Amino acid sequence: MQSHSGTHELVLILDFGGQYTQLIARRVRECQVFCEIAPYDTPLPALRARQPKGIILSGGPASVYEPDAPRVDPELFTLGIPVLGICYGHQLMAHLLGGAVSPAPQREYGRTLLTVVHAEPLFDELDFHLTCWMSHGDRVETPPAGFTVLAETENTPVAAMGDLQRNLFGVQFHPEVAHTPFGMHLLRNFLYKVCGCKGDWTTRNFIEESIAAIRAQVGNERVLCAVSGGVDSCTVAALVQRAVGDQLTAIFVDHGLLRKGEAEQVRTLFTQHFPSRLIFVDARERFLNRLRGITDPEQKRKVIGEEFIRVFEEHADAIGQCRFLAQGTLYPDVIESGTRLAAKIKTHHNVGGLPEWMRMELIEPLRYLFKDEVRCVALELGLPHEIVWRQPFPGPGLAVRVVGEITAEKLELVREADAILNEELQRTGWAQRVWQAFAVLPDVRSVGVMGDQRTYQYPVVLRVVHSEDAMTATPAELPWDLLLRIANRVTNEVAGVNRVLYDLSSKPPATIEWE
Ligand code: XMP
Repeated sequence: MQSHSGTHELVLILDFGGQYTQLIARRVRECQVFCEIAPYDTPLPALRARQPKGIILSGGPASVYEPDAPRVDPELFTLGIPVLGICYGHQLMAHLLGGAVSPAPQREYGRTLLTVVHAEPLFDELDFHLTCWMSHGDRVETPPAGFTVLAETENTPVAAMGDLQRNLFGVQFHPEVAHTPFGMHLLRNFLYKVCGCKGDWTTRNFIEESIAAIRAQVGNERVLCAVSGGVDSCTVAALVQRAVGDQLTAIFVDHGLLRKGEAEQVRTLFTQHFPSRLIFVDARERFLNRLRGITDPEQKRKVIGEEFIRVFEEHADAIGQCRFLAQGTLYPDVIESGTRLAAKIKTHHNVGGLPEWMRMELIEPLRYLFKDEVRCVALELGLPHEIVWRQPFPGPGLAVRVVGEITAEKLELVREADAILNEELQRTGWAQRVWQAFAVLPDVRSVGVMGDQRTYQYPVVLRVVHSEDAMTATPAELPWDLLLRIANRVTNEVAGVNRVLYDLSSKPPATIEWE
């Protein structure tokens, strides 16, 4: 699937491995400008060919004066394309253009008072005293020739700089984080006043273009669309449906790794809201057989990804002439599955898990979208609330919530505990306030006592998190009495469980799922 940069204004973010790079991308999109993240060493001709309206250099962990520090070709600054460097990007721009960068006598971290000394154009319509978020050990001492200092802080003489002739700008602080309250305003100034963007990245445009692109790609052929009942796959189904009508057949695979009652719920929800034909496949035994004896999380994901494709291709053959498979891959799935720069965290079943022997061509209209953007598209397409706000559920399902080997018995334990947790969260209104809530079954057992008898059984871990986009997450502060009630219910009602734990980890350093 092509990206949207051919039809839209594009801003490119060159990634130096900064923890906030994705957040920069989301903020730029929130300003209604399409952007993509590219590796810092993308060759200049390739960059130029994309005709970006602007380039943003991300932050990163390196120091510009280290011998193997990641750099860009200094010619980047002569292309006539506006550039904004953020943190490491700011220091790199200064360093490459002849300014001086050195370790700051004092590390600056956290909320910091910023004084604007030259407002135009980045700080246009902003106060002269602002709060920004800093996180750096190096600092620019002297800006390069042609640059003006735009803002300073107590410990950072060049907190923002700009060459107003060449449209090159750098900021030491992080405009993309919420702790820099004016950050969005500054980004908007860069995008609209410096780069001359008009803001053509809107939900409606996206829908119209996706429908046109799907029509062009599919022609008269048939499309199989893998649906799970979640917002991503249902949004894809709705887009394909609008594009090619009854050339679409939806397929739902019950791999036996679903939550309690889920298969029936999805079947009902889909028939209520979609006119398309739905093939419902009961593949529970087949998946369990394939997973027997597998304990490694990456191996589980690979096996499940492959088996999904096998099932899809068998049905595509049965339908006849079904060349395309549509699926709801998102931008973070692509990035987390490991690009050349971003380390692989885990193989999302629908990206890295795809086998080489796969014959079908993919249609992935959401491949460049973040979850919150998908939800906007789903709302605009008129999908019901239950689908739009459904908790994300990983493709490999409960397989990544049962640590170690998967058995039917373990799946039943985690399914029952999960149902109790979610029932209690629904009852108390917490379900709508959290990003995800689920139970995990670790691969350990411990001693307990029940009715004067010794038990040697599994614990269940409750994982309830807040998140905006699944890239970071924090544990939800559930009321103690609610936690105790859930724990009591789980140990009383789920045979085989004698302990309940609450997972207090954030992401990072943990991930949301356990595998
Ligand atoms: P992690 O565990 O990486 O999860 O913090 C981030 C979000 O992604 C979901 N997830 C997946 N979704 N296929 C999916 O469709 C996968 O293989 C997969 N792995 C994780 C997870 O539930 C969370 O919302």
